[in-house]
Amino acid sequence: LATLGLIVLGGYLLGSIPFGMIATRLGGAGDIRQIGSGNIGATNVLRTGRKDLAAITLAGDALKGAAAVLLAGLITHWTAPAMALAGGAAFVGHLFPVWLKFKGGKGVATFYGVLFAIAWPVGVLAGLTWLAMAALFRLSSLAALTAAALAPLFAFATDGLGVAGHYKYPVVVLTTVMAVLIFIRHHENIRRLLKGEEPRIGGGKDAAP
Ligand code: G3P
Repeated sequence: LATLGLIVLGGYLLGSIPFGMIATRLGGAGDIRQIGSGNIGATNVLRTGRKDLAAITLAGDALKGAAAVLLAGLITHWTAPAMALAGGAAFVGHLFPVWLKFKGGKGVATFYGVLFAIAWPVGVLAGLTWLAMAALFRLSSLAALTAAALAPLFAFATDGLGVAGHYKYPVVVLTTVMAVLIFIRHHENIRRLLKGEEPRIGGGKDAAP
């Protein structure tokens, strides 16, 4: 039980590191929460015009999710439910970081980091979904929502294949929980998408809501 507590707390703390905030601050791009959608994620960092900072944000927010899963794997000898729990905790840490008064991001990059670490085929399929949707519509939120919605099906179809072996259900539960939270965190994006007002990728600062 102590190990489980350590995994959840460690995952949460790792996930709560806001790379978008840190990168834009240190990179001299101002306070990301005052820019564009106000979100701390890579999509919004891109609206500052700084591709380098957006790439750092994407990598940092993804890697912290992967690190939480892999550290839990090391500690528990690759026990799938423990790894899923750590990934879920990191994801929740990104959404509700204690450092930002629990006002965090939308979880897309962390979702990918967690997925690649626990079940890489699911990560690949969800990644391809994002890329295909982004290429077609140039809407980051729509691409993420589609990938999130399909991830539980991908987990089911690939039988949980990945780092933790063949453990379908922890990965199905994890992807379902993350998908629901991603949809909740994108409620403003969903409203804009329905109104046709969501800014497209590459639209620059002026296109930001
Ligand atoms: O990854 C978050 C993305 O789906 C939406 O971000 O800044 O357009 O609300 P944003």
